[in-house]
Amino acid sequence: MSGPRFIVLEGGDATGKSTQVERLAARLRERDLQVVTSFEPGATPLGRRVRELLLHGEDAVDPIAEALLMAADRAQHVAEVVRPTLASGAWLVSDRFVPSSLAYQGVGRGLGVAEVEQLNQLATAGIEPDLVIVLDLSPDAARTRIGTGRDRLEGEHDAFALAVHEGYRDLARARGWVLVDADRSPDEVADEIWSVVCDRCDL
Ligand code: TMP
Repeated sequence: MSGPRFIVLEGGDATGKSTQVERLAARLRERDLQVVTSFEPGATPLGRRVRELLLHGEDAVDPIAEALLMAADRAQHVAEVVRPTLASGAWLVSDRFVPSSLAYQGVGRGLGVAEVEQLNQLATAGIEPDLVIVLDLSPDAARTRIGTGRDRLEGEHDAFALAVHEGYRDLARARGWVLVDADRSPDEVADEIWSVVCDRCDL
């Protein structure tokens, strides 16, 4: 039996990550593995307030403040969920982690991948996922799924969504993250994610 793994599902808005996190966790549990699911931003009590400020607040958010607030949410998430879960021997499947900050703040906001990565090192204390899977969906297809009722980041201009999308693709190539085509049915996407996990996590 292989040891616990930290798997992160990533991608732009409306790529179906939260559905796939639950599908993947269910399949892992069928193998009798202990699995915790989580997400960013907002999985802790403090994080919920940070998420509210970031996504639904009325005040303008400077890009650096945005990166720092995402990192603050992450530090709390690591302290309350990520580290205790991995220490307990359970698997952790998270909807977003540091890669989101690299794509959205590093590339999308233009703060620089290296700079954003550096500030996140403090937040994570060096904890890194074993596997990052990026659900790849064009901004056009994502926009159709989002419809109306957008939060602050979903309501960003098209150039931002495009930059984030390209950012994920470039980062995936450079860092060995696995791109999965998300423009398919949830069942098809779940099957591909499962085969990637079986392959990469020795299941
Ligand atoms: P969610 O809709 O997947 O919960 O994510 C909330 C929004 O926050 C989404 O637009 C992506 C954005 N985000 C960042 O910009 N940087 C980050 O580090 C994280 C975790 C999320």
